Amino acid sequence: MKFFIDTANLDQIREANALGILDGVTTNPSLMAKEGITGHDNVMQHYKTICEIVDGDVSAEVISTDFNGIVAEGEKLAALHKNIVVKVPMIPEGVKAIAYFTKKGIRTNCTLVFSAGQAILAAKAGATYLSPFIGRIDDSSWDGMELIEQISHIYSVQGYETEILAASIRNPLHIVKSAQAGADVVTCPLSAIMGLFKHPLTDIGLAQFLADHKKANG
Ligand code: E4P
Repeated sequence: MKFFIDTANLDQIREANALGILDGVTTNPSLMAKEGITGHDNVMQHYKTICEIVDGDVSAEVISTDFNGIVAEGEKLAALHKNIVVKVPMIPEGVKAIAYFTKKGIRTNCTLVFSAGQAILAAKAGATYLSPFIGRIDDSSWDGMELIEQISHIYSVQGYETEILAASIRNPLHIVKSAQAGADVVTCPLSAIMGLFKHPLTDIGLAQFLADHKKANG
């Protein structure tokens, strides 16, 4: 399973990348706004900077909602760097644009996915990645992980090549359960990645090893 970090914060991207386990980055307009990245040129430059930091796929989201606008934006984004993946919303115009990008060899990430039906449409259009929003489903008292399992089963029996990118991850357990359910990728905040390290027995064991070494060696 690939690990992407879900942020536009350069410090956090560098920190995750330094762990040596990072495969890519996802962003969205809210994450860009949170970092104060505004205006077309600054946004484009920010994507380029992220691509220079991480040697992996970087999802850059379009803000147009009509086919021509999505295509124009997506082509500009894809031209920025070979690792850019154009992130397109799960709407009819978006699916139409994904099918267009697929024919052109431009890779896509279909975002805002909340159902298996949407997952089938995105796969039919040839999306490279599909982003079901686990956390937001859990927030509405449905089980996000059930959706990952369902899509994983459908893609497997149908032979769809679209990769399942579990998004809207909120905690380390979401990462573990996504791996178990068959997700190809997880995109997570740095806090969820760092949470995977935590185990009190690791800390207790390490402290004991170091203390024993000190006692024996002075
Ligand atoms: C990633 O591609 C999504 O935009 C992101 O994971 C959404 O996460 P949120 O539900 O925490 O905003």
